[in-house]
Amino acid sequence: MENTIVKEVVQMPRIGDAAPDFEAITTKGKIRFSDFAKGKWVVMFSHPADFTPVCTTEMSGFAIRKAEFDELDAELIGLSIDSVHAHLGWVNNVRENTGVYFDFPIIADLDMKVSKLYGMLQPNESETAAVRAVFFIDPERKVRLIMYYPLNVGRNMDEILRVLEALQVSDKYKVALPLDWKRGEKVIVPPPKTLDELEERLADETLEKTDFYLAKKELVY
Ligand code: BEZ
Repeated sequence: MENTIVKEVVQMPRIGDAAPDFEAITTKGKIRFSDFAKGKWVVMFSHPADFTPVCTTEMSGFAIRKAEFDELDAELIGLSIDSVHAHLGWVNNVRENTGVYFDFPIIADLDMKVSKLYGMLQPNESETAAVRAVFFIDPERKVRLIMYYPLNVGRNMDEILRVLEALQVSDKYKVALPLDWKRGEKVIVPPPKTLDELEERLADETLEKTDFYLAKKELVY
């Protein structure tokens, strides 16, 4: 088996960490991340390169479904290790070819500062292009969920929207979400932590119980 060479040890943000702050040039001007979309959820995603096929399908997917992110009060922000001129050319090219407009900022991370800060540059996959990462950052600027995909596999927009909504529902209703959960489906009530809570759980006839530790309920939105 081939050994993997450790090229650089970087401290990547992990779930629960404060989202690292940075300044960057984007297609919508210069931003300081801590001031961007204050009080809202942020979905920050990287793509390997402008003018490439898989990236074009993914960015178009974000653009086409932007209204669904708006409904969830989430702002989108993209990133790649390309210049802002390349981004502008690509945005315009896709609009001319397909009518789809990338109406969200895309970071021009030419110096790789943000890519490195967020572990989007994974040198054993590529030393020059960011992998396909998605960071879900809550209104308190905490990293809540991270996805990393390699260069040759596109992401799934349904899953990106599903987990964003799942995080929000979990926070709001203090519940957990089972395998493949989607809006409208039953949610998991946290397991009891004391014997009193256990008795309460056993007596509760409104819950769908597989056992005392796995109980579901309908959510009234
Ligand atoms: C693509 O988006 O098609 C792509 C970009 C970089 C490497 C491989 C594929």
